Amino acid sequence: MKILFVAGEGLPFVKTGGLADVIGSLPKVLVKKGCDCRVVLPLYSHVIMDHYNELARLGTMSVRFGNAEQPATFYRGEDSGVTYYFIEHQGFFERDSLYGYYDDGERFAFFQRAALDMLSFLDWWPDIIHSNDWQSGMIPLLARNVYGGDERYRNIKHVYTIHNLAFQGNFSKDLLWSRLGIDDYYYNNGAVRFDDGISFMKSALVFADKITTVSPTYAREILTPGFGERMNEVLKYRQEDLCGIVNGIDTDNWNPLSDLRLAKNYSLRNYVSGKRENKKKLQEMLGLEVRSDVMVIGLVSRLTGQKGVYMITSGMHEMMRRNLQFVVLGTGERAAEDAFRSMENMYQGRMVYYSGYNEDLAHMIYAGCDVFLMPSMYEPCGISQMISQRYGTLPVVRETGGLSDTVMPYNEYTGEGNGFSFHGESSGNLMDVLDYVLRTYYDNPAGWRGLVHSAMKTDVSWNRSADAYLALYNSIIGN
Ligand code: ADP
Ligand code: GLC
Repeated sequence: MKILFVAGEGLPFVKTGGLADVIGSLPKVLVKKGCDCRVVLPLYSHVIMDHYNELARLGTMSVRFGNAEQPATFYRGEDSGVTYYFIEHQGFFERDSLYGYYDDGERFAFFQRAALDMLSFLDWWPDIIHSNDWQSGMIPLLARNVYGGDERYRNIKHVYTIHNLAFQGNFSKDLLWSRLGIDDYYYNNGAVRFDDGISFMKSALVFADKITTVSPTYAREILTPGFGERMNEVLKYRQEDLCGIVNGIDTDNWNPLSDLRLAKNYSLRNYVSGKRENKKKLQEMLGLEVRSDVMVIGLVSRLTGQKGVYMITSGMHEMMRRNLQFVVLGTGERAAEDAFRSMENMYQGRMVYYSGYNEDLAHMIYAGCDVFLMPSMYEPCGISQMISQRYGTLPVVRETGGLSDTVMPYNEYTGEGNGFSFHGESSGNLMDVLDYVLRTYYDNPAGWRGLVHSAMKTDVSWNRSADAYLALYNSIIGN
């Protein structure tokens, strides 16, 4: 089976969040299961800086871009058996960030047209195009409508995955004809219309053969107005073709036994001494009091409302009254960054806020902490809580979306569980569960050990979910 993944980011080349984790790991597993799996991404400045020497230049073609023509140059790279293609366009992609520009609609309209043109350039025809999030939402309609005169395009089936329904790629209507080359008919009949503009994501929800999202609970939640981001009615209309498949993580990259970024490697056998060494190193590195007996809580995240960070910042004094240390890594909304910065000033030696994106530090936090905090207001799946489990760091999560599907809360009567969870949206709700976590950590060491064991033994690999995707692909190509 031949599958092309289209996405805005993907490891090991470029990452801003969990989407890159998925694009860097699911295709690898599908290749191991016998698929010819390829990925296409924009050639961003970051990729040029860090990976240019690994790429082969394939050639340039002129991409029809609505009224105009624009050149796209294609590059090829490889990682773990997966072929990666990159689309070069200096003006659109060689910028400081990946997204967030006034012309994002135009940039990703170009990306999607170039990705489809690339198939005829390569003369490689996938059975399935698997598109992801708003950056590739127009692909199913483009392939059928604009390219549909050619049966090699028309025969392709489309799977679309929602990683986060809140980011929809809603743009001006002008793009439709002037850039994408799609007839106004699809605006007038409502198919791609959203308010007075067009929505890349809505287009995929209407035209993909199958829609998936990244956990079964989120798949149910997005049918409701509370989580549906005004797409719930469209999703309900497509309900029969919608399913939730929980993400896995890259268990080669995230392996405490071989992770080169750790102070000491460990497995289930020696995690006590392994985690102790990593905790010591983390405390030293960050200027925290070096104490092995204190519970250390970590948070690695985009600092946005979605991630529930204000539940933490509004209750920070109460939290810091407890016997704990707290490490935060991330960037995001100004209000959250300021609050964590002032928290750091106030609680020196016990609280550290590292503002930035830092892969090395992230690995040390996953390994050196006892607890990982993830009180998300909503969470399509979440990758961090699964990494934590694999590193024996117990996740404390709010019960929502994929967090409900991947974290089984501690039951002190049966000893079952691989983390902790709570309901509610207030800092008081969060504090209640943290008090329970602290009691378990300090007063119930046997219970804690049992939890760490089950967390580290939890299957967070792609194995089962990759099979679910394969079954889905097969169901639409008629195998
Ligand atoms: P989301 O994609 O919504 O941001 P996920 O939990 O799915 O959340 O994925 C987040 C990924 O990004 C994880 O791999 C996490 O370790 C990583 N990450 C987030 N913030 C940072 C940061 N500041 N530095 C390093 N890695 C980060
Ligand atoms: C999005 C979601 C996150 C998910 C990730 C990968 O960023 O916010 O929950 O884990 O995509 O699917």
